[in-house]
Amino acid sequence: MSERREAGGEYLLEARGIVKKFGDFAANDRITLRLRPGQIHALLGENGAGKSTLVKIMYGALQPTAGSLHWCGQRVAIANPADARRLGIAMVFQHFSLFEALTVVENIALAMRGAFDPGALGERIARVSREYGLPLEPTALVADLSVGERQRIEIVRCLLQEPKLLIMDEPTAVLTPQEADQLFVTLRRLADDGCAVLYISHRLEEVKQLCHDATILRHGEVVAEVDPQVETAASLARLMVGADVHEVNTAGHVKGGEPLLTVAGAGAVRGGAAQRVPGGARRRGGGNRRGGRQRPVGVVRGPVRRTSRGAGRGDHRRPALRHPRRDRTTAARSRIRTGGAARP
Ligand SMILES: Nc1ncnc2c1ncn2[C@@H]1O[C@H](COP(=O)(O)OP(=O)(O)O)[C@@H](O)[C@H]1O
Ligand SMILES: [Mg+2]
Repeated sequence: MSERREAGGEYLLEARGIVKKFGDFAANDRITLRLRPGQIHALLGENGAGKSTLVKIMYGALQPTAGSLHWCGQRVAIANPADARRLGIAMVFQHFSLFEALTVVENIALAMRGAFDPGALGERIARVSREYGLPLEPTALVADLSVGERQRIEIVRCLLQEPKLLIMDEPTAVLTPQEADQLFVTLRRLADDGCAVLYISHRLEEVKQLCHDATILRHGEVVAEVDPQVETAASLARLMVGADVHEVNTAGHVKGGEPLLTVAGAGAVRGGAAQRVPGGARRRGGGNRRGGRQRPVGVVRGPVRRTSRGAGRGDHRRPALRHPRRDRTTAARSRIRTGGAARP
């Protein structure tokens, strides 16, 4: 452990020997993790390593089978998220819990205790979002917002609690690179203000860029505590997986040729009605249910070849495209159909 990490004084939150069993299966196995004020601490591990289980325990959303939590050196029982929030722990979950039909301010108000003045709350939201570089329009309807904007609501909701510890479970999985960069600015600002951040991510380069410490889990156990600044992405990946991770480089094998996929006529439409477009294809689902926001739609034409094992796609068939920045509901609304394969 480096000197820098030895120094730094009192722990804000310490998890000691946390065990969480689901039946006979130990999702967390004697995990010890220590978080310091003003530090961004990465929690790394493959899918299923036990990261989300551990942070849910820290936030009181799950109870440990064994082990203890210590807040500023005092043993604490965090029976539920309200207990966690009272201590100063806030969490942005992997999956948001927002009401699409409500506005930003209404969604945030739902998380507030006691009575509140909507005007004053709107002003607080605007101020916090400005201070931390998280632009948000308090009166906007959630249904009209992008995934990145929705995440900002969750973060601002946390910041209004003036947390001492902010837990983020894979926050950049849904963000564009620009949105991720903006998030890093916010997190650094929070850490500079003395807030501890526990940061779960699979993106090792961004962990190196952002985090002061890293704890690595494998099969529910801590396998290493490292300084991400002195590690490489490859060495972090090796610790996560327990073996060398080879880069897949297909550059030498890829031959040029006919395009596999062509997107034609991409644009934005209002309203959700199916529309005829040149070439006999149909496009559907532009706009959201309220028809108030423009969403890009387009026509995808084949030929589309086999895309993955077991997913043979003949020419002019509908490819299984997933938009990485949209949730399933939105993706479902904007199905992309290939030319000539339109179904009613
Ligand atoms: N409620 C649950 N019931 C049973 N098994 C669970 C439950 N939650 C998580 N698990 C299992 O615990 C392991 C760790 O899960 P999780 O903490 O979500 O991992 P990670 O976030 O690192 O991907 C996984 O094998 C998962 O299937
Ligand atoms: Mg997880």
